[in-house]
Amino acid sequence: MKNQEIMQKDLKFNWHPCTQMKDHEFLPIIPIKKGKGVWLEDFEGNRYIDAISSWWVNILGHSNEYINKKIKEQLKTLEHIIFAGFTHEGAIKLSERLCKLTGFDKVFYADNGSSAVEVAIKMAFHYWKNKGEVRELFLSLENSYHGETIGALSVGDVGLYKDTYKEILIKNITIPIPKDKSEEEALKALKEAEKIFEKYHKKVSSLIIEPLVQCAGYMKMHSPSFVKGLRELCDKYNILMIADEIAVGFGRTGTMFACEQAGVKPDFMCLSKGLTGGYLPLSVVLTTDEIYMAFYCDYEELKAFLHSHSYTANPLGIAAANAVLDIFENGKWKMENGKWVLNMDNGQWTMENEGLGILEFNKKTSKYIWDNIQKFKSLPNVKEIRQTGMITAIEMIDYPWQERKGLKVYEYGLKNGVLLRPLGNVIYFMPPYVIQKDEIDKMIDVAYEGIKKVNSEK
Ligand SMILES: Cc1ncc(COP(=O)(O)O)c(C=O)c1O
Repeated sequence: MKNQEIMQKDLKFNWHPCTQMKDHEFLPIIPIKKGKGVWLEDFEGNRYIDAISSWWVNILGHSNEYINKKIKEQLKTLEHIIFAGFTHEGAIKLSERLCKLTGFDKVFYADNGSSAVEVAIKMAFHYWKNKGEVRELFLSLENSYHGETIGALSVGDVGLYKDTYKEILIKNITIPIPKDKSEEEALKALKEAEKIFEKYHKKVSSLIIEPLVQCAGYMKMHSPSFVKGLRELCDKYNILMIADEIAVGFGRTGTMFACEQAGVKPDFMCLSKGLTGGYLPLSVVLTTDEIYMAFYCDYEELKAFLHSHSYTANPLGIAAANAVLDIFENGKWKMENGKWVLNMDNGQWTMENEGLGILEFNKKTSKYIWDNIQKFKSLPNVKEIRQTGMITAIEMIDYPWQERKGLKVYEYGLKNGVLLRPLGNVIYFMPPYVIQKDEIDKMIDVAYEGIKKVNSEK
């Protein structure tokens, strides 16, 4: 089948996420036949650089041979089992590794980011109830995003997704955020935050945050000291802290987890997306023995956490996640046939940068991106550029949303072989870590030309 035919058939049957479907009267839907590394290819051989890691999930490239192999191996023995009353080797291995990596004690599985957030906020509420207190409020940050299910949407603050449902959401209070990554802004925001903590703390079960970068919230960034200050406030006012690292975990901000940069250990950490390298839906909520023990008692006390999903701890997803952790542990960059690849064997390193691990190499990649986007500052319609690790954002001026300038950059990107998916007036790069220099050059050039072009259009 050719692109056109597939597009028509798709639109006859499929209702796509986060989309005004009528847009597809003028905007073609792109049918993808295959992916390799950062590249996606349609049915007519057109290729696109996946500059957004397919909604931030694909950290190690499409069709990664090692992850493919590990999922296939898992398929030979067990595809899925109920995770209540039963367990499997992969889950035990993954949980032990995640606990070692993060310093947590217990892992609760779910199957996507939003459901991990649901689990964390329910657990936080339930923890206090088991201790004899009903704390019906949640605290979250202005401009935050934690997913689309009702609980997750309630603790989010992006009006575009939330406002329609405001009448049916649960109670939540938002804390102002710093305007940028500076220490002064962090201090100012923390002062305001304390007033809110003071006023509501007796009724609040938890504070949920996206540490360092609010991704769906237009890639707004704040300093590690803001995260640290919030942890201190949670300690002072006896409120649990949930770190939603669904988008920023697994090396995206420069460290394995964003909280590390703030030297903070939350009470819950939610992970998903990069957890399986973008292969399969899986999420976890990590927590402490202290929280766990508040639920641990005789059945008749009715304190158990009776939350479940059919696909909890799916073995295939877990095989992918264990493969991702293998690559983080053993993968070393090596130049092969003119390309940087993550090599899993102990190779001979002969060139500069060969033998580096993922996080060290990412530092070089993000610096290369940062150095090369300085030219955007001279575009008259660019307001700000910013970066945290492997997240780089270019904010255009405040065009009225109705002009949909971001969408125009998206269209320009597709016509020129780059999948960008701007958030309003913010264009960003969040590519798989396997992106090569020439691919970065193309990604940046196309975004630059796209932004320049929309400025001159009416
Ligand atoms: C920070 C954060 N939390 C939660 C979610 C929701 O994850 P999912 O889309 O898998 O439900 C997202 C998704 O983008 C996210 O960025």
